[in-house]
Amino acid sequence: MKSDKLPRHIAIIMDGNGRWAKRRLMPRNYGHKRGVDTIDRISRAVFDRGVEILTLFAFSTENLNRPKEEVSGIFELFGKYIVKNLPDMLARGIRFKVIGDVSICDEELRKLIADAEKKTEALAEHRLNICFNYGGRADIVRAANKLSAEGVTATEETFASALGTGGLPDPDVVIRTGGEHRISNFLLYQMAYSEIYFTGTLWPDFGEKELDGIIADFMKTHRRFGRIEQ
Ligand code: IPE
Ligand code: IPE
Ligand code: MG
Repeated sequence: MKSDKLPRHIAIIMDGNGRWAKRRLMPRNYGHKRGVDTIDRISRAVFDRGVEILTLFAFSTENLNRPKEEVSGIFELFGKYIVKNLPDMLARGIRFKVIGDVSICDEELRKLIADAEKKTEALAEHRLNICFNYGGRADIVRAANKLSAEGVTATEETFASALGTGGLPDPDVVIRTGGEHRISNFLLYQMAYSEIYFTGTLWPDFGEKELDGIIADFMKTHRRFGRIEQ
């Protein structure tokens, strides 16, 4: 049976900012800046279509190995993004959460994150998760240690709830822009049954038309979860 249902949770590996800038002979951070504009456009479109949860991979633990100016530029853009978008999140009922190890952020950024999470905590219409300094394996290891410290037996349910996405359904759709066919340590546990879409479009160029095509395709997909067709 076709699902005919909108995805409830879309996750995106936003890749290709650096190449987008390079093609224009611009510094990589200019690509990241334009990537933030795409976040504004695409998050609005995703929520307008009625999708409940959007999870974005913004910065991986491995991305810390990039040149210092690039890393600090991304951290700065992240802070600006929160300041600019908080009013909109409050107005549109979007609960904001950062998933990943934010202890490496400076105090100002940590405060911005904590403040936005707190102010949007009670909102229930939509969920926007930003994976920042996030690694799928680290998330799994942290969850295992958490359960063990609490003396809780690991089951698929207790384990899922100990992950950064705890309490949320797994992503129905995972999109990777930028043309690479890999997961790069994103939601390793959570994407067991996600429909995965790889597109060559670089993230700053990713638009609503392509998003709508992916959603339409998902709605035609037969999700069997290991069973046979009924
Ligand atoms: C994705 O774009 C954003 C981050 C990983 C922070 P990239 O910066 O990886 O862009 P490319 O892959 O080099 O083009
Ligand atoms: C994946 O992109 C991480 C994010 C989009 C945040 P990368 O550019 O870091 O991935 P690799 O290095 O090509 O695997
Ligand atoms: Mg990349």
